[in-house]
Amino acid sequence: MLPPEVIEQVRADLPEWHWHGVAQGASVMEVSHRGKAFEALIDEAEQDLRDLLAIPPNYRVLFMQGGAWGQFACVPMNLLRPGERAGYAVSGGWSKSAAEEAQKFGEVSVLASSESDHFNRAVALNRSLIENSEKGTSSPNKSADSAWSYFYLCSNETVYGNETHSLPKNLPAPLVVDASSHFLSRGIDFEGVGLVYAGAQKNIGPAGVTIVIVRDDLLDRAPKAIPAVWHYAHMAKHKSLFNTPPVFSIYVTALTLKWIKKEGGLAEMERRAVARSSMLYEAIDASKVFTAPVANEDRSRMNVVFDTGNPERDAAFVKFCDSRGLLSLKGHRVRGGMRASLYNAMPIEGIETLVAAMREFETSLA
Ligand SMILES: Cc1ncc(COP(=O)(O)O)c(C=O)c1O
Repeated sequence: MLPPEVIEQVRADLPEWHWHGVAQGASVMEVSHRGKAFEALIDEAEQDLRDLLAIPPNYRVLFMQGGAWGQFACVPMNLLRPGERAGYAVSGGWSKSAAEEAQKFGEVSVLASSESDHFNRAVALNRSLIENSEKGTSSPNKSADSAWSYFYLCSNETVYGNETHSLPKNLPAPLVVDASSHFLSRGIDFEGVGLVYAGAQKNIGPAGVTIVIVRDDLLDRAPKAIPAVWHYAHMAKHKSLFNTPPVFSIYVTALTLKWIKKEGGLAEMERRAVARSSMLYEAIDASKVFTAPVANEDRSRMNVVFDTGNPERDAAFVKFCDSRGLLSLKGHRVRGGMRASLYNAMPIEGIETLVAAMREFETSLA
């Protein structure tokens, strides 16, 4: 869900784009990415993002394409050095796929996985996990700290609904974070973080742009022989305008960033996320029909996953909700059950309506 105000602005700009009140003589879908107005927009989007997240000055902001799947490959292409390995925490399908994709480019260790718990919990990435993995290695020169290129986690697993509420610190190599599905719902502590990325299409804009925030010292790692559009240093050098960027998606993202600022920034986004998700989890926990399987401390504030314990009843509930205009509650196809995605723009009234529908459904079963 995007903020209705942003959608209204997009509607107004479709026939002719006005940037800071100045008519551009063309639709936002028609302007050149080399024009002054778009260059000003992308600069302003970067600055707004820097302000919102308090991004330290030694990090670069890139607007890339290829979605999060693109980053599954781009991260190891740029950061995984020959003779080293990358350590992955697997807390759901997305981090599992990311680890599999990385294996195409070098050596990968899955440090821990919550798959045997049906991904009903996040994975705490810490030094003892890393040391255990080092002990398990057959090659003696893989046990030193320097043998790790980076560590990787997905801080909000969209499909299974688990969230890492605070990022691990003091790891012996930079941390890479896939924050796609809760980006800008809370702040990011950049200590120890080498790279954070997020596809726009969950919380900030339409599909097409992927935001990458990468620490300066990692830019030089990439071998020359990787495609220019996947080369972080190359994209940084060209300020994300090496080739044609996804103009429309960046434009909507820029509007959403301004909306977040106006609403009170990330402290306010986090307050709303806590209010929305706790209202829903409390209703689920109080219910005799619905259960939320994710461990309390790892429950996602963005993607609330729940079940009735019976796939036919789940389907009946999704239909019941559909008929009341409560859409997209069907769980992801690999997980089943229900999932309520409570992104930044979702008003609290949306949760109140869902909770009322849950109670009505429960009563109808009695
Ligand atoms: C956390 C996370 N990572 C990665 C992906 C894959 O994103 P994309 O389809 O943009 O490649 C998704 C998609 O929903 C996601 O939620």
